[in-house]
Amino acid sequence: AKADPLKVMISGAPASGKGTQCELIKKKYGLVHIAAGDLLRAEIASASENGRRAKEYMEKGQLVPNEIVVMMVKERLLRPDAQQNGWLLDGYPRSLSQATALKEFGFQPDLFIVLDVPEEILVDRVVGRRSDPVTGKIYHLKYSPPETEEIAARLTQRFDDTEEKVKLRLQTHNQNVEAVLSLYEDITVKVNGTLPKQDVFAQIDSALSKLLEERKARSGSL
Ligand code: AP5
Repeated sequence: AKADPLKVMISGAPASGKGTQCELIKKKYGLVHIAAGDLLRAEIASASENGRRAKEYMEKGQLVPNEIVVMMVKERLLRPDAQQNGWLLDGYPRSLSQATALKEFGFQPDLFIVLDVPEEILVDRVVGRRSDPVTGKIYHLKYSPPETEEIAARLTQRFDDTEEKVKLRLQTHNQNVEAVLSLYEDITVKVNGTLPKQDVFAQIDSALSKLLEERKARSGSL
């Protein structure tokens, strides 16, 4: 375990590339990736009452109520792997009240990453997105096609990945984004998310290594 593990939040519109970047960040920095959307989809798959309720909201592109989401995220953050290795929280907080709840539980990020992608690109990304149920890897039919025929044949599409539903998801995002961003202004790094994924990662990588270097310099001067 690390002495003072990194705590990072990543935010951005639907399909801005959060999950894609989290795969790369996790690989290099060993943080535990916690995605609110993935936790909710797991809840749906388990056929629980919370999962059934969550799906009603997700199908409308609306935020799932806090009484379901907040505890779910809090419990995941408290698990030993996230406490020991640091965490990378994806898709949470999405409202002022979610941010406040986390703060009250004592979770404060070191860095808040915002992926900036214009709306006309997002729809194209959503409609072409597929995921591999075996590895969890995210693909895009055009921008990030599967490596083999075998993988191509087993790819699945999310139930909320239609043009109609992404527009609703975008509306919800636009209603809440300013309030959340204003809370983390002093630790925010805004990244151009329209570039190829490796170039987007290069921007994030440089912010994270700078943060680690600053920490090292500080602990050396104590
Ligand atoms: P969630 O699962 O979080 O969905 P989202 O925010 O809409 O984000 P996505 O997962 O769609 O996209 P992403 O940014 O991860 O992009 P990706 O890397 O896959 O939430 C779903 C729903 O759950 C919400 O609508 C809500 O109802 C509910 N929910 C979730 N969190 C909640 C919360 N905190 N509170 C309440 N409710 C909550 O990339 C997208 C595509 O683009 C892929 O195909 C990828 O290959 C491609 N791509 C990625 N990067 C690039 C690039 N640089 N160039 C070209 N293509 C790229």
